[in-house]
Amino acid sequence: MTKRRILVTSALPYANGPIHLGHLVEYIQTDIWVRFQKMRGNECWYVCADDTHGTPIMLRAEKEGITPEQLIDRVWKEHKADFDGFLVGFDNYYSTNSPETKHYADDIYLKLKAAGLIEVRAVEQYYDPVKEMFLPDRFIKGECPKCHAKDQYGDSCEVCGTTYQPTDLLNPYSAVSGATPVRKQSDHHFFKLGACTDFLRGWIRPPQVQPEAANKLIEWLDAGLSDWDISRDAPYFGFEIPGAPGKYYYVWLDAPIGYMGSFRNLCDTRGIDFDAFWDRQKAAAEKTELYHFIGKDILYFHALFWPAELESAGYRTPTSVFAHGFLTVNGTKMSKSRGTFITASSFLKNLNPEWLRYYFAAKLGAGIDDIDLNLEDFVARVNADLVGKYVNIASRAAGFITKHFDGTLAYTGDTWALTAQAGAAAAQVQEAYEAREYGQALRHIMSVADRINEEFDRAQPWVLAKDEGRRAELQDICSRTLHGFKLLSVLLAPVLPATARRVARELFGLDRDFLWSDAIEPPQRINAYRHLMTRVDQRQVDAMLSDNAPDTVSTKEAQSRARHPEQQQRASKPLVEPIAETIGIDDFAKVDLRVARIAKAEHVDGAEKLLRLTLDLGGETRNVFAGIKSAYSPEQLEGRLTVMVANLAPRKMKFGVSEGMVLAAGPGGKELFILNPDSGAEPGMKVK
Ligand code: MSP
Ligand code: ZN
Repeated sequence: MTKRRILVTSALPYANGPIHLGHLVEYIQTDIWVRFQKMRGNECWYVCADDTHGTPIMLRAEKEGITPEQLIDRVWKEHKADFDGFLVGFDNYYSTNSPETKHYADDIYLKLKAAGLIEVRAVEQYYDPVKEMFLPDRFIKGECPKCHAKDQYGDSCEVCGTTYQPTDLLNPYSAVSGATPVRKQSDHHFFKLGACTDFLRGWIRPPQVQPEAANKLIEWLDAGLSDWDISRDAPYFGFEIPGAPGKYYYVWLDAPIGYMGSFRNLCDTRGIDFDAFWDRQKAAAEKTELYHFIGKDILYFHALFWPAELESAGYRTPTSVFAHGFLTVNGTKMSKSRGTFITASSFLKNLNPEWLRYYFAAKLGAGIDDIDLNLEDFVARVNADLVGKYVNIASRAAGFITKHFDGTLAYTGDTWALTAQAGAAAAQVQEAYEAREYGQALRHIMSVADRINEEFDRAQPWVLAKDEGRRAELQDICSRTLHGFKLLSVLLAPVLPATARRVARELFGLDRDFLWSDAIEPPQRINAYRHLMTRVDQRQVDAMLSDNAPDTVSTKEAQSRARHPEQQQRASKPLVEPIAETIGIDDFAKVDLRVARIAKAEHVDGAEKLLRLTLDLGGETRNVFAGIKSAYSPEQLEGRLTVMVANLAPRKMKFGVSEGMVLAAGPGGKELFILNPDSGAEPGMKVK
């Protein structure tokens, strides 16, 4: 197989606000694709940067009493921490306010100019006489000329939906100073986009753009392309245009060039050949690929302006622009007042990032449909698939292998069918990832997980384990199951990189991360299984929502407002039961807590919740019934340490006499935790 050479970008987030879950649709979508390409053994570079220029950033810095450079430095660090937290593995995360970006912005501008594609002409615009600046449309407000609603923005009316020019507003005022704006002329630089119409007509079709996008783009093209105003007057935070003092590149001119700037910066530190990816001839000769992942709102810039600029300046054009839809939360647009404008950092504070990666992936396809984060569905899906189906496989099979076979796997008969099945699954999933049909990939992976679980259950290893004469059968089914777990882990690795890394290194003892080619081969040994992933608890989601509730309301109010009625009901069940009446230290001293080893754990015929434990107290053994069956299967318990009340009077129960009690904590169900003292504890030790 020849190694592909691929450069991938995600859109550059604005440096004036936090990363939120809407943004993350894109960064997670891109990261999965990049990780998949890297696992396949392709050369794949993933670059991004903060989009740092423009009026809003300039004004925001001023409001905070800092320089724009200080603002973008701080936001860069916040963004980078969020991306790291969500395991978005950029090869370079840079800034558009960089010498490399300036270099390519000037280069492209001057090439366009030399080609006769830049025209300078006077434009009349609103000017704030107090602030002494031209006002972008968004910073002019006034009365809607159609419905007379007050305080509408300069581009469209939020009440009646009419779009207009800012000069159409009645009684306009500056949103910056409140002053009445005056009309003023100044020279602007235009890129003659109309001259690129023929080129674009040929370009905007699959595979350069998705079919749905092509239709939209052709509509725009048919309506006629106006020249694009690429300059702004001082004061402006950005790059000054060469030979035009007081004129700056409009932020959208240098933003996509930031892709080149970030990549150039990476090339210089890693010795990559920049021209192989951007020079038109060289890129064609070396067959390098360039992909931009973007939201559908910025298609116009990426599928019209950008290829037109690149083509006219002699650079290569993108292989494809991949647009995705917008995120809604519980079926509606993300909203600050509903607390569903969820920041990346609030998610990281309360929940595991791989849960969101999995959920988004399950919903993502190659199209531009919007995707919904339904928070109840999120909890249910993650728990059912990741914990119930995937992680469960390893925890069930590994215990037997460690206990009875010292970690060694062995297969009876040949493994031809096993590897053939794995190969077929990997091929299907590979095709789906490549086509960005992640939902399809995950559905396939989960059907494989179902099959593995069913085969394991059918073999009844817990029955085999009781029969010395059936050891080979036990080892075989557990080995096949763990082969299946390795397969699933490889296939899920683009989505769950941290878990896959632990499985590769801790469980299978590899000294590297998984490659795609690891999917097939049957493993020969494992290390002891260590807990991989917990279930999502609805309360973690509630805590995240209340962290995003508007600051203007008290936390309590915000919480109840943010929650759905169903969630409210659930949350009204107290998290922690009221503390019982106090007891004196003397009363407490009477409770004799001891470390005990679970020598044996067995099902109790006819009991729904109970397990029978034989506890070794380092000299004597006790028979104890514990209501922990919902959380543990017997084979998970044997050999582990717990804490017990050793001097509880024996009690006669329905199934026998219980001689003590084990301590467990947790909300119940699957989440009951038998406390494990740190290693070094010995059965019989007193717990202090
Ligand atoms: N700075 C520009 C992009 C310049 S690229 C040369 C920008 N920034 S952004 O911060 O507003 O958005 C960054 C990316 O996140 C865009 O692709 C945008 O579509 C995407 N999303 C922002 N909000 C989103 C949702 N609610 N849902 C899905 N994607 C969203 O645009
Ligand atoms: Zn109106």
